[in-house]
Amino acid sequence: MSVMKFFRQFKDLGITGPFTRWYDKNTRTNRIAEMQGYAKEVASHLKDNASVLEVAPGPGYLSIELAKIGNYTITGMDISADFVEICRVNAKRENVNVTFVQGNVSAMPFEDNTFDFIVCSAAFKNFKEPVVAIKEMYRVLKDNGIVLIIDMNHNVSKEILIEEAGKISKSGFERWFMKNTFKQLCNSAYTRDDFENIIKQTSFSKNDIKEIGIGLFVYIYK
Ligand SMILES: C[S@@+](CC[C@H](N)C(=O)[O-])C[C@H]1O[C@@H](n2cnc3c(N)ncnc32)[C@H](O)[C@@H]1O
Repeated sequence: MSVMKFFRQFKDLGITGPFTRWYDKNTRTNRIAEMQGYAKEVASHLKDNASVLEVAPGPGYLSIELAKIGNYTITGMDISADFVEICRVNAKRENVNVTFVQGNVSAMPFEDNTFDFIVCSAAFKNFKEPVVAIKEMYRVLKDNGIVLIIDMNHNVSKEILIEEAGKISKSGFERWFMKNTFKQLCNSAYTRDDFENIIKQTSFSKNDIKEIGIGLFVYIYK
């Protein structure tokens, strides 16, 4: 069995246990500026009182930073019960109002036409059924709504990837671990063409994909 086939078996299981606490601490220590940047980008598309869904928030910092920017109704949905718990603790500590629920992107626990904006960062490559995930986003998105998927670009150069991984973790073992993790993640990440092919299989008709740093910013319009 190839390495990628081995990893794909575990898609959709989400992250649980001690790794969620490590991921939370690592994000809080090293990635808050990144989350603030994503939150600002999302906010630039929102009107006051907009309803926003973050799919697969992990420890929840993007949603939390977004809640600090404006008056929005924000929901975060993650498959991992441990992450949902961590999100709730983090939101309480930051004194912001975000609703976090457990759910699978392949069958989201929301009514049709609920959200003005859906954002999903560093998670799309983890989904077992990418076409179903986008179809579900279409279903729960309001007319004229926007989806923004931010994820690693499979075609990024390995040198840039390793440099970025080094920025996230500075100490010896953690740095080595992050570099190897980034290389594995890049193997399962999608290209611009992959995203276009996935979107073509859904009811969305318009998209715009930007290559930024090691990532793809995939904007999809309903
Ligand atoms: C690498 S973390 C990304 C977390 C966060 N968005 C970030 O930018 O750091 C991937 C997240 O996807 C979640 N996940 C994986 N499969 C999922 C699914 N089918 N539905 C919802 N969440 C899922 C995991 O539990 C985890 O929180």
